[in-house]
Amino acid sequence: MELINRILSEMTLEEKVGQLNLVTAGQAVTGPVANGDMTENIRAGFVGGVFNLWGRDAVRAAQKLAVEESRLSVPLFFGLDVLHGHRTIFPVPLAEAGAFDVELWGRTARAAAVEAAADGIDLTFAPMLDVARDPRWGRIVEAPGEDPLVAAEFAAAKVKGFQGEGLSAQGSIAATAKHFVGGGAALAGREYAAADISERTLHEVYLPPFAAAVAAGCAAIMPAFNSVAGVPMTAHAELLRGYLRTRLAFEGVIISDYTAVPELVQHGVAADLVEAAALALKAGIDVDMVSGAYLHGLPQALERGLIEETDIDAAVRRVLTLKRNLGLFENPYRRLDASEAATCDHGALALEAARRSITLLTNRDILPLPADVRRIAVVGPLADARAEMLGPWYAAGRAESCVTILEGLRAALPAREIRHHPGVAIEGDDCSGVDAACALCATVDAVVLCVGESAGMSGEAASRASPGLPGRQREFAEAILATGAPVIAVLSSGRPLIASWLIERARATLATWLLGDMAGKAVADVLTGRFNPTARLAATWPREVGQIPIFYATRSSGRPPDAGNPFTSRYLDIPTEPLFPFGHGLSYAQVQLYNLRTNVERFEIRDDAELEVRVDVANRGTIATEETVFLFVRDPVASVARPAMELKAWAKSFLDAGAAKTTVFTLSIESFSFPGKNMQRRCEPGAFEILVGLNADPKTLRSIRVEAVPTPNPQA
Ligand code: GLC
Repeated sequence: MELINRILSEMTLEEKVGQLNLVTAGQAVTGPVANGDMTENIRAGFVGGVFNLWGRDAVRAAQKLAVEESRLSVPLFFGLDVLHGHRTIFPVPLAEAGAFDVELWGRTARAAAVEAAADGIDLTFAPMLDVARDPRWGRIVEAPGEDPLVAAEFAAAKVKGFQGEGLSAQGSIAATAKHFVGGGAALAGREYAAADISERTLHEVYLPPFAAAVAAGCAAIMPAFNSVAGVPMTAHAELLRGYLRTRLAFEGVIISDYTAVPELVQHGVAADLVEAAALALKAGIDVDMVSGAYLHGLPQALERGLIEETDIDAAVRRVLTLKRNLGLFENPYRRLDASEAATCDHGALALEAARRSITLLTNRDILPLPADVRRIAVVGPLADARAEMLGPWYAAGRAESCVTILEGLRAALPAREIRHHPGVAIEGDDCSGVDAACALCATVDAVVLCVGESAGMSGEAASRASPGLPGRQREFAEAILATGAPVIAVLSSGRPLIASWLIERARATLATWLLGDMAGKAVADVLTGRFNPTARLAATWPREVGQIPIFYATRSSGRPPDAGNPFTSRYLDIPTEPLFPFGHGLSYAQVQLYNLRTNVERFEIRDDAELEVRVDVANRGTIATEETVFLFVRDPVASVARPAMELKAWAKSFLDAGAAKTTVFTLSIESFSFPGKNMQRRCEPGAFEILVGLNADPKTLRSIRVEAVPTPNPQA
């Protein structure tokens, strides 16, 4: 701390607020404005960090300016959005979440960190931990899905993967848990829109992933653009200082989102930039991204008496501590000296991750492709779409590194006749290619129909009010279906697509999301059966857009849906059930669960209580398989209305053909607890239902009841 105190004591006010100023170098464009040339400000000590800049020479040159030409030689930190890979691009988070594989999530983050660090990156603006339950919202692609437990496990795995054995390690980068909090609940799924979330839902759903990230030691947190119940997150002192700093004892740096500080004026809570800067600093924002509001506004806020210099000092101290922990004072070029990434090839990991992120939604006896399927038409605008496979946040990824679906199939089936035609573009009105594509399908044994979204149709500022197939793809797909050839639909997208009309008519449908570098190889491996699909939906798949938001953990109604009773919570025009529930996904095996049991029927409410749940899993199929078994808990009677059920654990079961194994879950008292009236977690006495199955469809779950009993009163 001596170093930090010394530097702080020598800093002018301008140099202090300079440390709180994060500028974009513009090598990637991730926001509405740019900072222009930053050279003079770096020399003057008015820049604390730079993002959207990577590459050894460029980073070294910028760091040299700060270290050799500024008065106090305080090194910069370098940030970038490394969401799902740096140079090697892995599947988008919504896809990878479907692997339900904590170890894989950590390994891809570790690989990304090594590659990013070697390019001079010290900090990533990831993992993105917004619980997302609205496919209209483009950022669902960056999220680990709809469930808070999945998001919490994802958070911990990614933070540990990025940060490795410690921030100062050459191959480690600081993780930034984002966006704190509630962006996924934006009004009508519209990006940046206000979110109205009850305190209870905040504590049950949106806050737990960030608690997990903090517990895993994440170095930074980025508040969300949106407001929650009328308070913009960039000015939300209660959640930033009250919850993060006090309840979670988070000591890291809080970095605003892109120009979010001055946007407090548009939110209607600050009259001008100076007030916005003061409000943000007092609420707990340490670093101002891009806007210059801190650099230019905080000195004036000080003059107006809106803040104290000690408020600024506290923020500067946290930034300097982050730089010290990153090892930048010892060696400002430490990551650039790493040669590890130069030799690392993460292609095999990219293929493994892509394979394990593909969800087989339906299969009517056509997959894996049988040997007598000799002539295949691979049609559609996503068949040979290289850049789209990268997804919207691809850091230093390159389209030329991606294997397209067509390339993957041709490489996997060299002896088959594989024809190709795009048919239509991803968007636009040109249908001139439809007839030619249909003609290809007239004499084939199977059609692989590759449709979906471009990489830019999901991610930030990419909400879609009608999240179906864009452009004239539906017309095209209808024409392909009309040829009568067996159609395998391959959906490449950043969200669950509203495409029931296609899914119900295709012989099989795969959700392949946006799989990164090895997309085509992975899709071919699943279609040919070289890889048995194992992914499960991390987000519910709606039947119609009118059902959105739709997710499994809904609170019951006093009149639950009953198709036979008009006076219940239902629609006149469509079923209330989704097209596919959370956790849905087929494999090429047939698995059965039976003999659900617990070690006790009742347990005492104690911190050390443990309940063992066992279920037998049998593979009735003809190939080995990996299945994900989910365990939910239902609390039928409590002091507040609880969600219909909540995911409390999942486990993998690896089964050879014909084999059977027992899957064992060990539940703690935490699995039966929830935020009580004061939002402090508690377990209440009473009956609970444990539900186990292969997805969240209540009709398919096996259940057993247990009872939580108060600990006997020792005085009694
Ligand atoms: C963007 C995004 C945020 C990202 C930041 C820096 O606006 O909201 O997720 O980390 O700017 O690129």
